[in-house]
Amino acid sequence: MNGLHPDLARVLVPEETIQAHVKVLAHQISLDYADKGPIYLVGVLRGAFIFLADLVRCLTVPHVVDFMSVSSYGKTTESGVVRIVLDLREPIDNQHVIIVEDIVDSGKTLSYLYKMLKGRNPASLRTCTLVQKPKGPLDVPVDYLGFKIPDVWVVGYGLDYADKHRTLPYIAELKPSVYTR
Ligand code: PRP
Repeated sequence: MNGLHPDLARVLVPEETIQAHVKVLAHQISLDYADKGPIYLVGVLRGAFIFLADLVRCLTVPHVVDFMSVSSYGKTTESGVVRIVLDLREPIDNQHVIIVEDIVDSGKTLSYLYKMLKGRNPASLRTCTLVQKPKGPLDVPVDYLGFKIPDVWVVGYGLDYADKHRTLPYIAELKPSVYTR
């Protein structure tokens, strides 16, 4: 592609493909939650804000948007995510909750959030992620998935490298030379 930033190796998921899949996911969620009352969507900051913004604008069922942010003390540790930086504004007991992630990489963030929110007694709890890497089985379900992607460093559409490239409209593979510098 002309004009690709020198940090990027290639476009992995073009903008049109992302937008088409967002519509499919929103359609499926709208079907599944028809007549169930409002969905309580939990976007995981910061990465999910772009995906969530596009997803909710395609939903045809009532929904509430909220956000959480978690901090991990190193994704290479066994425990992974350990601290809530920003919590939900409201209790979620008896709510139909969907956690919305941009990416499931090791799965530690999603696993932590799922188990923690499950403990708050929602009426139901599901998960939605735009992309997932092939890191082996997760201990929590991924109910709505856009794409599986190879195990490479990706940026764009919410995903960053050192706070760069987050607002690209496509998902691109970062050159290994960038993160091994
Ligand atoms: C990214 C992404 C997910 C998480 C997935 O967030 O947005 O929340 O990593 O990784 P995991 O499956 O290995 O847990 P990050 O911690 O980079 O923060 P950010 O979204 O604020 O950039």
